[in-house]
Amino acid sequence: MKGNLRVAGDKSISHRAIILGSIADGVTRISGFLEAEDAMATLAAFRSMGVEIEGPESGRVIVHGVGLDGLQAPDVPLDLGNSGTSMRLLCGLLAGQAFDSILTGDSSLLRRPMRRVTDPLASMGGQIGVSNEGTAPLHIAGNSKLSAIDYIMPVASAQVKSCIILAALYAKGVTHITEPGPSRDHSERMLAGFSCPLSIIDSKISISGGNRLIGTEIDVPADISSAAFFLVAATITPGSDIILRHVGVNSTRTGIIEILKLMGADISLTNQQVVGGESIADIRIKSSPLRGIKIPEYMVPLAIDEFPVLFVAAACAEGQTILSGASELRVKESDRIQAMADGLTALGIDAQPTADGMIINGGRIIGGQVDSFGDHRIAMAFSIAGFRASDEITILNCANVRTSFPDFVSSARDLGLDINECWE
Ligand code: S3P
Repeated sequence: MKGNLRVAGDKSISHRAIILGSIADGVTRISGFLEAEDAMATLAAFRSMGVEIEGPESGRVIVHGVGLDGLQAPDVPLDLGNSGTSMRLLCGLLAGQAFDSILTGDSSLLRRPMRRVTDPLASMGGQIGVSNEGTAPLHIAGNSKLSAIDYIMPVASAQVKSCIILAALYAKGVTHITEPGPSRDHSERMLAGFSCPLSIIDSKISISGGNRLIGTEIDVPADISSAAFFLVAATITPGSDIILRHVGVNSTRTGIIEILKLMGADISLTNQQVVGGESIADIRIKSSPLRGIKIPEYMVPLAIDEFPVLFVAAACAEGQTILSGASELRVKESDRIQAMADGLTALGIDAQPTADGMIINGGRIIGGQVDSFGDHRIAMAFSIAGFRASDEITILNCANVRTSFPDFVSSARDLGLDINECWE
């Protein structure tokens, strides 16, 4: 692999830019917006609530904010497709509105756990109906008077944290949120960019209700979670030397780089700068042999979306890689531990799933057929295995690659992978 590439815009930052831009006073101009289904689901939801949004056009979006209390009741349930981030963040925002709303999504989203957000919102006074299994559709009653809480989060989750932060804007008093460990902090950084005061002392965030947001400009960097596929591809493909441009390297997201470096990868950052409160850099990756490691558990939330492709890296490493403390992977867009263990086994790798992780012995990847279970990151991870497979790999149920990285196939092809899509 040779060359340089700017991968798709950051999904987490794109969602937040639309959400905060919509409830800000004045205009927010976004560049680098991720034009993919998940971020578009958030954008469509705010259009349904009366927000005028221009674009996206080549990543440019203009949001005409309606202010904290300017959203209007949607006429229909808000369909958030495959996007867990949209559902959990909107749930917090809508719990504090004057109108009722319903949040729904695709079959994967309707299986994902929602009590992690509805329970703390209920203790703030929010009224949200969930199924007996704790899943969506979510029926959110308007006119709830929210009050501040002091919430100690049981798991490090940026979606839960951001949900409560958004509800806190509508609550009476000062809400305190304590995280058990760091998770991505884009909401906190972006709120500061919207001139909304919040305090962060150690792992405790405090935010008062009623603070108004002022429209701003947002430069969305390339998504390190999309870059991750090519970080691994270049590392495991002998003779590679590539540069991934303008990637977000916020320290709450760079677990993938740290873990690959511990395994022996040759990765360096250049052109580092801070734009709109977020660190951005060009990342250079040269191929390098990898060795198996025990992944430190504190790194799990810092690389939470990158494990599918990290498992492929582990399959190409010399020796054993052990992941533990990652049971959250079982409740992502698919059960990512089972999906990856099954697929790697089908490709000739010794991969043993555990309750909260996986044990992988590096080996030779052969060809075969695997199922991505409609999970975008599983589909892309197995495509990267193709850079090292001795025979063809067929990956089923890949349409959801559109949710986060619509240009993945053409980008992988540009970098040298022989990959074809079949729509049968
Ligand atoms: C996200 C947070 C992470 C991540 C998801 C996006 C976000 O989930 O897996 O893809 O934008 O806040 P958790 O915070 O639930 O771990």
